[in-house]
Amino acid sequence: MLEHGASRYVDIDLSDSMLELAKNRLTRFEDEQVTLIQGDFLREAIPGSYDVILALGYFDYIENAPAHVRRMRELVAPGGSVVASFPRWTWSKGPIRKLRYEVINNCPIFDYTRDGLMQLFADFSNVEIRPGKSGFLLRASA
Ligand SMILES: C[S@@+](CC[C@H](N)C(=O)[O-])C[C@H]1O[C@@H](n2cnc3c(N)ncnc32)[C@H](O)[C@@H]1O
Repeated sequence: MLEHGASRYVDIDLSDSMLELAKNRLTRFEDEQVTLIQGDFLREAIPGSYDVILALGYFDYIENAPAHVRRMRELVAPGGSVVASFPRWTWSKGPIRKLRYEVINNCPIFDYTRDGLMQLFADFSNVEIRPGKSGFLLRASA
């Protein structure tokens, strides 16, 4: 995003090690352009409003997707967008994913449908959904 002209990049994550990875990748940018916040996206104070909110590989693990989408709606600037990926159930990958994440690693995962995404983002003025092999890429504009 910064390489493509964003003036600021704010990253929030629960995980210190993910933020450390982000920090290492972002060293080439000015300190004032980058803010890394450790905390829960639903609870943490996140000042400002944002032209683009990215959530890639995020909703796979999110139990209460409506609450997260509501928070995104609050944080997105007028005319701004949420860009997010969502996995969908497929019989080729679904059972292995469930076994690997939920049974072996005790990590619940969630799947989405096109209709479900339209409902989830009903408060946005325009929603585009692009289906891929194992999920959807969505852009919801405020
Ligand atoms: C699979 S990773 C996403 C990876 C990243 N988008 C990328 O492409 O490298 C999902 C991340 O969401 C974070 N996460 C999950 N629930 C969260 C929450 N409530 N608030 C903030 N971060 C959260 C996890 O700690 C994890 O680092």
